[in-house]
Amino acid sequence: MRRKECKIGAPMGAGRDAAWFLIVFVGTMPFPPVTEELVRRYDVEAPRYTSYPTVPAWTSSFGPADFAHALERAGDALSLYVHLPFCRELCTFCGCNMVVLRERSQIDDYLDAVEAELALVAATLGRRRRLVQVHWGGGTPTSLDERQIERTWRAIESRFDVDPAAEVAVEIDPTVTRTSQIELMRGLGFNRLSIGVQDLEPAVQQAINRIQTAEETEALLAYARSLGYRGVNVDLIYGLPHQTAASWAKTLSRVLAMRPDRAAVYSFAYVPQIRHHQRLLPADALPPSVQKLELLGLAYDAFEAAGYRPIGMDHFAREDDELSIAQRKGTLRRNFQGYTASPASEVVAVGSTGISDVGGVYAQNVRPLPRYAAAVRGGAFATERGIATTEDDRLRRELIQQVMCHFRAKLEAPAVARFGAELARLEGLVAEGLVRLSKDTGGAVTVEATPLGRIFVRNVAAVFDARRRPEGSHSKAV
Ligand SMILES: C[S@@+](CC[C@H](N)C(=O)[O-])C[C@H]1O[C@@H](n2cnc3c(N)ncnc32)[C@H](O)[C@@H]1O
Repeated sequence: MRRKECKIGAPMGAGRDAAWFLIVFVGTMPFPPVTEELVRRYDVEAPRYTSYPTVPAWTSSFGPADFAHALERAGDALSLYVHLPFCRELCTFCGCNMVVLRERSQIDDYLDAVEAELALVAATLGRRRRLVQVHWGGGTPTSLDERQIERTWRAIESRFDVDPAAEVAVEIDPTVTRTSQIELMRGLGFNRLSIGVQDLEPAVQQAINRIQTAEETEALLAYARSLGYRGVNVDLIYGLPHQTAASWAKTLSRVLAMRPDRAAVYSFAYVPQIRHHQRLLPADALPPSVQKLELLGLAYDAFEAAGYRPIGMDHFAREDDELSIAQRKGTLRRNFQGYTASPASEVVAVGSTGISDVGGVYAQNVRPLPRYAAAVRGGAFATERGIATTEDDRLRRELIQQVMCHFRAKLEAPAVARFGAELARLEGLVAEGLVRLSKDTGGAVTVEATPLGRIFVRNVAAVFDARRRPEGSHSKAV
């Protein structure tokens, strides 16, 4: 039987030794109680596994020439990521690679560099390639005005064949987006929008320096729909300062009333050691991990009641949305944009900090805009670091993808022999009730996260990670 509410057995302030428990529900399955002890043990730093090996394991000995060789090995159908880092203001929660815009001429200078890089990529690929996915991310891509949007699109279109069925997506901040921009983009061929919301409660918005009304968000979403955008996504974050169960429930119900096709409900990645501006947040107003889990539970409950399907560890999608369909078909994958239904397995990225995943390598561009522009305008790639993956990396990556996307991974007999040490380590998680292991008669072993283990799915995936980095490299698992 499905319970409607998310309950905390005893409040956090109820004394150190007080037995408390939290019940959250995934789909129609209630999570068993999460003990304080379990949270203490598993709320450790763990990657989100948008790549494997993860970024901290990449090296600066991987450079522009390595990236050029990887491009020469690229397949025929690609995903193109364009990083547009500019934002009007600094949202203090932000963990993305962004730049506060000082003057508008900065954008045209940057776009000159992006165009030079696109030309370089196209020349290195050697022949025209088909784009089955295009994603503009940021920063805030709608910092570009209409002329700048159009020139960037033409720079892509003149060098690549955009598949008529391609998913063409852009990240939108409603507070700086004009209807004329999304009209123009729709006309150019954009068909997906991802709208940043985070939280609608004024106290939370004040604390994160992101003031955005529900009305402007709602109006933009409705207008985008009327223009024919599909797969409209809304980003929310749980674990922000001053969020409470009551305020979060209000945000959820307001967002659900907008009926987005899908939502990303991210755990707040608090990494002030990496993103120094997060030190501006009131640290004492951050909900502790236990409360974060309560917020997650509320989100699961609200989305499920509204007919959405949970996707992986932090997305929800309507049954008819492509993410849901990909999950049902087993084709869901994970990349730097989160969960994706894209048919492209290779991503080529342009722009500062852009990350490519192509020809068996990961490669990331430099961050400082002057260095990025100087490299690409001088005819060289701006690769700052990367990694050429080994066969072992690729096997582990596949297992980690399976766990992150489907909460289960099947190891055939040869893999069972090869990953004996990992399977032995998983026994510890079996004893905790986080994982189930089952063996078939052919010797294959299936690893499956239990409903409880899904909360800690990053920890489960981490068992297959042979390149873990020292403390300070990642956000916490909860
Ligand atoms: C690359 S950002 C761009 C969003 C866009 N500029 C906006 O402001 O709406 C994409 C999403 O990443 C998520 N995000 C950014 N920083 C985060 C953090 N520290 N922890 C969790 N999610 C974060 C937010 O939900 C955000 O909407």
